Formats: sequence, C-alpha cells, structure tokens
Amino acid sequence: MNVGMPNREELSEVTKSEPATLFNKEHAASYDERFARLAPLKDSLHLLIRILFSELPERARILCVGAGTGAELIALAQAFPGFEFTAVEPSKPMLEVCRKRAAEMGVALRCTFHHGYLHTLAASEPFDAATSVLVSQFLVQRVDRVAFFDAIAQRLRPGGLLVSADLSADLDAEESRGLKDFWRNMLLYSGVAEEQAGRFLEGWKGDVAVLPPAEVEGIIAEGAFAKPTLFYQSLFIHGWYARRAG
Ligand SMILES: C[S@@+](CC[C@H](N)C(=O)[O-])C[C@H]1O[C@@H](n2cnc3c(N)ncnc32)[C@H](O)[C@@H]1O
Repeated sequence: MNVGMPNREELSEVTKSEPATLFNKEHAASYDERFARLAPLKDSLHLLIRILFSELPERARILCVGAGTGAELIALAQAFPGFEFTAVEPSKPMLEVCRKRAAEMGVALRCTFHHGYLHTLAASEPFDAATSVLVSQFLVQRVDRVAFFDAIAQRLRPGGLLVSADLSADLDAEESRGLKDFWRNMLLYSGVAEEQAGRFLEGWKGDVAVLPPAEVEGIIAEGAFAKPTLFYQSLFIHGWYARRAG
C-alpha cells in the first residue's frame, strides 16, 4: 500500500506540509509505482469499501476527498458502473494523474475533477457517500481535522456513508513497538532504502498526526458523524466507516 509519505529528502528547504508541495510533480509521478509490492494491502481496503458501498443506490454520487492519483475512485468506478464521482484534490499533479488514469480506465465521463480543497467545491445535491483515504492525518491541528470531517458531513445526505482511513496508533505504547519494527520491514520489503526505512518515524513528525484510534474516532464523531466503526487494520493503517448523523 502506498503509505502516502513522500521522501522528505526529495523536497526542497522551503517545503512545508502543504499538499501542493508535499505531493509535488515528482511524487505524483512515482506515487503508484513506489509501493507497488504492497498493493494487495490497499486492494483489501478497496474490497471492503466495495462491499460496504454495495448498499448504495445504483446511481449513487460519491465524494472522494484527497482522491490523490485515483486509487479508491477507480476501484469503485470499475465495480459500480452507475456511480458518479467527484474527486477533490488540492495537489494539481496528483489530480492530473487521477484524471489520466480515470480516462485510461474508461470511467472519466462519470467523474468531476476538482482542483482545490473541499470548501472551494461548488454546492451540489448531497452525496450518498464519501471517501477520505490517508488524508485527514495530514491535518495536524485537531481543530482543522474536526472541521475537515464536518465539511464532509455537510456534503452528505442524512445517513450518508463516510469511509476514512489513516495512520493511527499510540506510538508511545508498548504494543506499538513490534509494529514499528514490522512497519520498517514492510518499507524494506517495498524497496525503500535501509537508512530511510529506519527513520520513518522522523518522517512522520510534523507532517502527519498519528493519533490513537479512539482519538481519531472522537474527531470523526465531532464532525457530525454517528459513532465510527473500525472495519480495517493493516499495521498502523486503520479504516473506519460512519454515517452522517441526523
Ligand atoms: C496519501 S495521499 C492518498 C491518496 C489516495 N486517497 C490514496 O489512497 O492513494 C493523500 C492525498 O490527500 C491530499 N490532501 C492532503 N490534505 C488534504 C485536504 N485537507 N483536503 C483534501 N485533500 C488533501 C494530498 O494532496 C494527497 O493527494
């Protein structure tokens, strides 16, 4: 699975954790290949999202926030030929790869591609469901993360489904120790250089907020969702679904 983190050594001095700079042209171009050996992990998450979304109407409208290069959008579009998608993505290079891949897969006509953040997306009919895969972790301030989920909730119909996946753990807890070694081995297996794999925790500092699962659940629920259900875990990656309250 693409664990989402660019190699900071490739980034310039002025780079901050802004998506437009973190997910720059070089990162976008190599995003899908970089962790290709871990693709089955992502595939299993997508499989579960497909099963979850099979309850949706035939012509469901899906909001993909932080669509990146289109991984979950394409997995869903291929499985559900009646669904329509709106991809929201602040990094232009990532969105351009998404647009190209959607065209290659023959699903682009059912997609709207929005370059920018969710609050800049024009008002529309409510969506039936939303995805946010490895996105909210980049909002390091809790208040911003709550607002992120609240903004998604406002775009959904009541009872609409959210799927959100993020890095999540109590990194200081004893039980995380084994997972840190496991994660490092996973990076080595995927082809990351030994030195870089050994420093992955440093790479997370400042750019991502890796919070314990209960805290992430609290943040999602504060954003106008009913209690989230944890349905997926692979090492530090956790996936939840939740319904818009009311
Ligand atoms: C790790 S990638 C995940 C992409 C895709 N969801 C996947 O699973 O392959 C995170 C994406 O979220 C985008 N992003 C970061 N912050 C965002 C925000 N506040 N709103 C929407 N997208 C954001 C980044 O530009 C990047 O493309």
